[in-house]
Order: sequence, then C-alpha cells, then structure tokens
Amino acid sequence: MQNQPYYRPLRENDFYADKRSARPIIQGTVARGHLDADTYFYTGKIGSNDGDYMPFPVTAEVMARGQQRFNIYCAPCHSELGDGNGMIVQRGFKHPPSYNTERLRKAPIGYFFDVMTNGFGAMPDYAEQVPPQDRWAIAAYIRALQLSQHASESDVASGEPIAKQPPPGVMVSPPFDTQGATTAVSAPPKPNSAPANGGEAKP
Ligand code: HEC
Repeated sequence: MQNQPYYRPLRENDFYADKRSARPIIQGTVARGHLDADTYFYTGKIGSNDGDYMPFPVTAEVMARGQQRFNIYCAPCHSELGDGNGMIVQRGFKHPPSYNTERLRKAPIGYFFDVMTNGFGAMPDYAEQVPPQDRWAIAAYIRALQLSQHASESDVASGEPIAKQPPPGVMVSPPFDTQGATTAVSAPPKPNSAPANGGEAKP
C-alpha cells in the first residue's frame, strides 16, 4: 500500500503506443465552468453571421453597467462620445472609426460583441478583461451612443414629450478632465507645445 506503481505526468512511458504517460483529453471534454452552451451569448453569432438582438432584456441597470464599463475599457481610445478621439489616440495610437458612421450604425449588435471578443485590426480583444454579460451591456450602450448623435423627433413616441432627463439609473458623467483637456476639445497636442521648462511644475 505504501509503495504503488504510478506514472509521473509528462514523463516518457512504454506502456502506451504514443509513449506518453499523460493521456490526451477525451474528445468533447468540457473544462469545469466552460460549458458555454448558449452559443449566441458567448459569440454574438448565429452560424457564421453576427446576430442583431440582445440575448437578455436591456434594463436601465444594464445600460448603466454598459456605460460604466464602456467608460473604463473603451473610452480611453474611442472617447466617451464614441467618436474615436480618446486620450490614447490623442497621444498617438491609431484612430478608430467613429461609431457614428453609416456603416457602424447599420452593423448588427452582435458585431460589437465580436469585436470586443476577438479584437479588430490594431485593437486588442477584451475577452479577458470584460466578461460576456458586460460585453453585451457595452454593446447595448454603444447603440445608445449612436442614437444620442443621430436621433430624430420620430424616435420619440408620438404625443410623448421629449425627455429632458436621462432615465433613472443612467448617469451623465462629466467629460474627462485630464490636465484641463476634455473630450469635447480633443485636438491632439501640437508637437511644439511642450513648455519651455520641460513640464516641471513651477515652485
Ligand atoms: C487601445 C485603444 C482601444 C481600446 C481601449 C478599444 N478600442 Fe476599439 N478600436 C481601436 C482601434 C485603433 C480601432 C480600429 C482598428 C483598425 O482599423 O485597425 C478600433 C475599432 C473598433 C470598432 C470598429 C470596428 C470596425 O468595423 O471598424 C469597434 C466596434 C470597437 N473598436 C469597439 C470597441 C469597444 C466596445 C471597446 C471597449 C471594450 C474598444 N473598442 C476598446 C482601439 C481601441
């Protein structure tokens, strides 16, 4: 009982034809917590096409969460307006397209989920940092951002007054104020605008 034969993992071994002591995972094995059975929820795709609906209802809480996550993970490049003039871009990163282009307004919501999940061109993916539920919340918020720059009176139900306040739970955050720069005034700094004293604070 004290001493029993066993194979050391990853050591060579003569017993199996492939000479490995570690056996391959049986086909179809699912790691614990990774069943991911709801394909649309985890990919935003129906077959190989992007889907165009939310996999869960959009409530004011979902929008507030989406706004908060967007402002953390996306606004540094895309800006809080989604025009692509984020602070990292102002400091030289590739300029993303504005969300308010015809093409991206027409893009299905699953497309935004997919870009966050797999990245796009120069943009890294955010699958690790942003879990699927939050990626959907961000996608819903991007739709609201697009509407905010492209709404017409016909988007308000007839007879209803045009709202002067955002719905409860949705905060309108003040623009970034990084050293006096705001997203509204988002011209990149001129190369020759460095202070003569090298940027040191005056005593
Ligand atoms: C580090 C900067 C950066 C961050 C952060 C970032 N993006 Fe991007 N994004 C880019 C750049 C750059 C592009 C354009 C990439 C290209 O064309 O090579 C882009 C493109 C996109 C596009 C447009 C794709 C198209 O079809 O043109 C979408 C949608 C998008 N990003 C969504 C997001 C979302 C949502 C987040 C937050 C989870 C995010 N991005 C975070 C830099 C960023």
